[in-house]
This record gives sequence, structure tokens and C-alpha cells, in this order.
Amino acid sequence: MAIEKKPHLLITGASSGIGASLGVLMAEEGYRVSACARRLPRLHALQEKNPGITPIEMDVSDHASVQLGLAKAETENGAVDIAVLNAGIYQPVNAAEFDLSSYNRHMAVNYTGILHCLDGLIPAMIARQSGHIAFMASVAGYRGLPRSSAYGPSKAAVQNLAESVYFDLAPKGIKIQLINPGFVETEATAVNDFVMPDLISSDAAARLVLKGLRSDDFEIAFPKRFVRKMKWLRLLPAKSYLKLMAKFTNH
Ligand SMILES: NC(=O)c1ccc[n+]([C@@H]2O[C@H](COP(=O)([O-])OP(=O)(O)OC[C@H]3O[C@@H](n4cnc5c(N)ncnc54)[C@H](OP(=O)(O)O)[C@@H]3O)[C@@H](O)[C@H]2O)c1
Repeated sequence: MAIEKKPHLLITGASSGIGASLGVLMAEEGYRVSACARRLPRLHALQEKNPGITPIEMDVSDHASVQLGLAKAETENGAVDIAVLNAGIYQPVNAAEFDLSSYNRHMAVNYTGILHCLDGLIPAMIARQSGHIAFMASVAGYRGLPRSSAYGPSKAAVQNLAESVYFDLAPKGIKIQLINPGFVETEATAVNDFVMPDLISSDAAARLVLKGLRSDDFEIAFPKRFVRKMKWLRLLPAKSYLKLMAKFTNH
């Protein structure tokens, strides 16, 4: 009888928050998990929870580091079956006190970091005519938001990227999905000084991501109530939207 090989999940940004929760959850479900991030001790702590997790040191903003990390993941766990490109940073900014470095950093991690991973993942997946890539964006990419001019555009770029690569990669047998969470309680959102509507835990977010990964939906967006509101706002003409959002958020 053939022994069924467990799928290999590679996840970036696995040292905390949604990525750590998803890595542990999917290891518990039997996936071989390559958990990538810069903070190796955090990844080793996850491996202690579940030996199905392989810690991989990776800075997604550094192409060479991504190449080395992907090579290590393939050596340890074989070809990547599913990649969840989740690594990201979030810093609220005020464009009236413009800080170019923050804008550049958001694009370097949240967007270019994904391109670095795609560069390593796509050729092998095309050669095998199979694979699955999930792009982590955010509902913050749907429209401009207060304090979000560094983060939001990086996520809007990821949303556009996921839709655009779909046309080229889906016909090659690669499943493409886009993940758009609302507010999730993590180190990233701990900086927020406002009440976050419909906030959920990172473990709850991980369960919703896993359910989505197993579905045929292109977009995995949650929590549903918050997403419905954000999608409705997306339909408004810019003038009405800006007025309404400024009023809601006291800006
Ligand atoms: N929390 C939310 O409400 C929310 C909502 C929508 C979307 N998201 C998205 O979900 C993803 C995960 O965020 P989170 O909320 O779970 O935040 P988090 O706890 O701060 O996790 C961010 C992860 O990204 C990694 N990371 C940051 N810079 C990196 C780099 N240069 N190279 C490699 N890894 C890097 C961090 O690991 P190291 O520091 O160890 O490298 C960490 O594992 C992000 O893309 C975020 O934008 C979050």
C-alpha cells in the first residue's frame, strides 16, 4: 500500500500572530510546516509545541535570504504544496508628518517580500503543474483609510497582484487565493489606540484561513459582518465615502 505523503505548507511571518496560529493549526492537521520568519527563537518555540514544524530563518525583504530559506524548506520538507505569503508589518502614519522610510518599508515587506517568494515558488510549481499560493492582504486594501497611507497601499497592491497573477497561473494548475482579514488581535494591531470593530483572536483567524484554503473561493475574507460593511463602503463614490469615513473616525 502506498504511503500518503503529507502536504508541505510554507508560511511566511510564522513567528507570531495569524502566521504562528496557522502554522500550529496546520501542523496539528498533519501538514509538514516550513515556518519562516526572522525571529528564530520564536519558531523553535513553535517546533517544541509540534515537531511537524520546521523553523526557517527568512527576511522576506531580502531576496537572497528568501532564496536560502526556500532552498532549506525544500531540502527539509520537499516541494512546496501550499505557500501562505503572510509576512507583513503595520504602522499607523500621519501623511502630514511624512516619513518616507515607513512607506518604503511597508512596500519592501508587504509587497516586494511577496514578489521575492513568488520568484522562487512559481517556476517549480509550473514545472509540476500544481501548487497553491495564498496572498495575505487586508480589508485595509479596499479603500483609503485614516492613518493607513503606508500600510493600505501595500495591501491594495497585493490584492491587485493576486488577481493579476491568477490569469497566468490558474491555467498552469496553480491555485491562487487572496486573504483579506478585518481586525485580528496580534502584536501588529496592539499599537492601535481605537476600538477595533469585530476584533477576533489569531487562533480564530487561523481557523477561518484554513477553512478558506480548503474551499474553492478566490477571496478568503473575514469576519463576515465587518467585511460586508467594508464591501458596501467600497461601492460608494469617493466624495461620499471620504465624508462618511472622516465622520466615523473623527478625522
Ligand atoms: N492583525 C490584523 O488585524 C490583520 C488584518 C489584516 C491583515 N493582516 C495581515 O496579516 C499578516 C500577519 O500579521 P499579524 O497581525 O499576525 O502580525 P504580527 O503578529 O506582527 O506578525 C507579523 C509576522 O510577519 C513577520 N515579518 C515581519 N517582517 C518580516 C520580514 N522582513 N521578513 C519575514 N517576516 C517578517 C513577523 O516575523 P519576524 O518579525 O520574526 O520576522 C511576524 O511573524 C500581515 O501581513 C498583516 O498585514 C493582519
